[in-house]
Amino acid sequence: MSYVLVSLLIFYIIASSNFSLGYGQTTFNVLDYGAVGNGQIDDSKAFVKAWNASCLTKASKGTPTLVIPAEKTFLLQPTIFSGSSSSNIGVRVEILGKIVAPKNPDAWKGCVESWLSFGDVTNLIIYGTGEINGQGSLWWSYVSTVQCPRPKALHFSKCNNLELSGLTHVDSPKGHISITHSNNVTISNLHIRAPQTSPNTDGIDISVSSHVNIHDSIIETGDDCIALNNGSSFINITNIACGPGHGISVGSLGVNGSYQTAEEIYVRNCSFNGTQNGARIKTWQGGSGYARKILFEHITLIAVNHPIIIDQHYCNGRHDCANATRAVNVSDVTYNDFQGTSSSKEAIVFNCTQTPGCSNIVMKQINITSAIQSQNISAYCSNANGTFSTTVPQVPCLLKTNSTSFNL
Ligand SMILES: *[C@@H]1O[C@H](CO)[C@@H](O)[C@H](O)[C@H]1NC(C)=O
Ligand SMILES: *[C@@H]1O[C@H](CO)[C@@H](O)[C@H](O)[C@H]1NC(C)=O
Ligand SMILES: *[C@@H]1O[C@H](CO)[C@@H](O)[C@H](O)[C@H]1NC(C)=O
Ligand SMILES: *[C@@H]1O[C@H](CO)[C@@H](O)[C@H](O)[C@H]1NC(C)=O
Ligand SMILES: *[C@@H]1O[C@H](CO)[C@@H](O)[C@H](O)[C@H]1NC(C)=O
Ligand SMILES: *[C@@H]1O[C@H](CO)[C@@H](O)[C@H](O)[C@H]1NC(C)=O
Ligand SMILES: *[C@@H]1O[C@H](CO)[C@@H](O)[C@H](O)[C@H]1NC(C)=O
Ligand SMILES: *[C@@H]1O[C@H](CO)[C@@H](O)[C@H](O)[C@H]1NC(C)=O
Ligand SMILES: *[C@@H]1O[C@H](CO)[C@@H](O)[C@H](O)[C@H]1NC(C)=O
Ligand SMILES: *[C@@H]1O[C@H](CO)[C@@H](O)[C@H](O)[C@H]1NC(C)=O
Ligand SMILES: *[C@@H]1O[C@H](CO)[C@@H](O)[C@H](O)[C@H]1NC(C)=O
Ligand SMILES: *[C@@H]1O[C@H](CO)[C@@H](O)[C@H](O)[C@H]1NC(C)=O
Repeated sequence: MSYVLVSLLIFYIIASSNFSLGYGQTTFNVLDYGAVGNGQIDDSKAFVKAWNASCLTKASKGTPTLVIPAEKTFLLQPTIFSGSSSSNIGVRVEILGKIVAPKNPDAWKGCVESWLSFGDVTNLIIYGTGEINGQGSLWWSYVSTVQCPRPKALHFSKCNNLELSGLTHVDSPKGHISITHSNNVTISNLHIRAPQTSPNTDGIDISVSSHVNIHDSIIETGDDCIALNNGSSFINITNIACGPGHGISVGSLGVNGSYQTAEEIYVRNCSFNGTQNGARIKTWQGGSGYARKILFEHITLIAVNHPIIIDQHYCNGRHDCANATRAVNVSDVTYNDFQGTSSSKEAIVFNCTQTPGCSNIVMKQINITSAIQSQNISAYCSNANGTFSTTVPQVPCLLKTNSTSFNL
């Protein structure tokens, strides 16, 4: 009997050590690399060990999968998952359990820009029904002796062919998901959730990336649901429910006199419920560059404060930005089929600078009514040109047309 047990034990040890060394294995469970998953013990080292092992998998064995199992909570300190030594076969990360950050900002080891970072990984696929919880509530109100700036939760840099789906992202100290220097990205079926009052908790931030597809997700947060920053191009955003939040934003661009750009951005079939903005473009005075070839269409609005806004005087909530002669060019922006309600009197705001102003703004099939009975709504328009048809409220500086065709 005991012989059998000992044999089994020996067999198990051999089997699991083979497992750890990755011979013939393509599945790498963090529990096999020492993760505890009780939400108390720091599991960062075990995660990196399992990640490193999966990155060493030979292409002939198939795509390695890092598994974060269900029904466990893994506490992680700031962790970098680097793919620079991996081959191009990619890595799959299946997250079924919960990953949490230290609750108390003082318990974080060092100041970091991001809590969990993935860098230089081609063909990375992260999926599952698990949760990534930044436990940001203390950061939002925190005045510490450490004085670290608030970190973002999940960051991707140089991750071409990235897929991210299924997860729930909760309470980041700052932005939830940021993606930079990455092409061919698909993000879908996410639920991002932070309170309306949480500061700078953007849902998804994109910069210096192209061919990005974000669809079928729910984003409830305290800042932009999605922000398309400098160097964003060929971006499709479809079927996003945003609210609470500050809307889907192009920009801000041109901060501190910089040259920044965004173009070929298509936002379709999205809804905004109780948000500060809906379709938003924001640029700083004094900058240069452009925001152009942008389409927002089939948009549902429920009591949105600024359903449609272009602000070329963006000043991040302050009003002390100096007037400048330069600005980021805003042009070729189309709004098609907006239905629903505005909670403010100015449902449409085109607040453009004298030069260069906003050009070729096209609006059609817009019907925005007031969320507040007997309140009249209007559009504000300064230094913009373009056309509108079947648009309520009418936009003073655009030309009324009968045209039903439109081009981008
Ligand atoms: C993981 O790999 C990186 C670089 O490839 C290395 O610097 C690090 O020490 C490794 N960490 C562990 C825990 O194996
Ligand atoms: C884009 O990424 C997907 C994986 O998400 C991959 O299957 C596809 O081949 C990539 N496309 C290009 C053009 O690289
Ligand atoms: C965006 O949508 C257009 C039209 O539906 C499609 O042709 C294009 O390939 C899409 N791009 C991405 C990055 O998904
Ligand atoms: C803007 O993005 C471009 C790439 O599109 C990059 O080369 C440039 O450094 C960025 N500029 C700023 C000020 O962020
Ligand atoms: C803009 O410049 C000021 C002064 O140099 C600096 O404090 C601030 O962080 C800069 N802002 C950004 C967003 O780079
Ligand atoms: C938008 O929604 C409409 C109606 O639900 C649907 O017919 C259309 O295919 C959707 N468009 C996209 C790009 O998902
Ligand atoms: C809009 O948000 C409110 C408040 O969160 C919620 O009660 C309502 O059901 C939402 N409406 C829709 C159509 O989703
Ligand atoms: C337009 O921008 C200027 C400068 O920031 C601001 O003072 C003004 O209130 C804005 N107008 C509207 C209608 O938002
Ligand atoms: C900036 O310009 C606006 C008009 O575009 C004017 O109302 C405002 O007073 C100016 N502000 C300063 C500080 O010069
Ligand atoms: C719109 O404004 C742009 C730049 O200010 C200008 O080049 C263009 O001719 C204007 N278009 C019309 C129709 O006035
Ligand atoms: C605009 O929407 C309101 C409310 O749904 C509706 O009563 C009105 O008839 C619509 N107007 C137009 C011009 O479609
Ligand atoms: C626009 O439509 C009106 C009637 O709605 C018509 O009187 C007018 O001639 C049309 N203008 C053009 C340029 O087609």
